[in-house]
Amino acid sequence: MSGVVVLKTAEAVERTVASWRSRGHSISLVPTMGALHEGHLSLVSIARKRSKRVIVSIFVNPAQFGPDEDFSEYPRTFEEDREKLSRAGAHAIFLPDEHMIYPMGFSTSVLVSGLTESLCGRFRPGHFNGVTTVCAVLFGIVRPDIAVFGRKDAQQLTVIRRMVRDLHMRVQVVSGPVVREPDGLAMSSRNRYLRTEERRQSTALYRGLCKAAELVSDGERNADRIVGRAMEIIDSSPLVMVQYIELVDPFSLKPLLRMKRKGLLAVAASVGETRLIDNIMLGPEGAIEEE
Ligand code: PAJ
Repeated sequence: MSGVVVLKTAEAVERTVASWRSRGHSISLVPTMGALHEGHLSLVSIARKRSKRVIVSIFVNPAQFGPDEDFSEYPRTFEEDREKLSRAGAHAIFLPDEHMIYPMGFSTSVLVSGLTESLCGRFRPGHFNGVTTVCAVLFGIVRPDIAVFGRKDAQQLTVIRRMVRDLHMRVQVVSGPVVREPDGLAMSSRNRYLRTEERRQSTALYRGLCKAAELVSDGERNADRIVGRAMEIIDSSPLVMVQYIELVDPFSLKPLLRMKRKGLLAVAASVGETRLIDNIMLGPEGAIEEE
């Protein structure tokens, strides 16, 4: 028997959350699309430290996939996910279907402008619109005290924070660090699509980011040179086709000409059919971790 309860409707979530609240428990939500790995589970562990009850949503959100993207192929591994969440100590899984989230007549869209047009927004039009809309729906159903997101999706995190601030949503957004494979590749549900040679070359992304961090720690401040050096490393892996690599201000996501107090170096690449993203936060001394 698995120790985690599976809730499929808004009503079931509302009842469960109400009973937790009546006992004075604080609640964290970890939104996911399933196919869970250690990156997702690290967020559950952060959520457990921050609140008494943890609910993880699993919903492959059609609204955030483009017409040529991998919505129908996206891995759906619910039994394994449930096992993992049970072991990780989550208390409930919210597993809605598409009609539960987007019932007939659903007409609302949450659009965070400005922050969503650069970086991944250029290559995935409408993507962040789908993300903010589904997160607004999930926050409305669960009404968590805390919502936990990974810094792997740095632009997503910035956009969600903006939405929460702008709409006065009563949820505290907490972030967790990028969890990596032993060779540095950021964990992703999409890594399983990679063929052997693609998987091997994918490590170039993190190697490039680390090289850039090294340059900054040696005193380099010029964005072109920092980005150029990372690009050189990545380019030496021919299967890794960079879509963008940019040093941006972590709050505005606007490009930096020179390294300031903080710079987010973000990269996206296609490797065969698979799209990968990664990033590193840079400070004056090189890579930094921050919440
Ligand atoms: P998904 O890709 O499943 O990711 C769910 C959460 O896990 C996100 O906050 C993401 O940043 C985090 N995550 C993924 N890989 C990680 C890693 N290697 N290290 C740390 N955190 C990691 O992001 C989404 O789903 C969706 O857009 C969602 C927010 C659920 C809305 O549909």
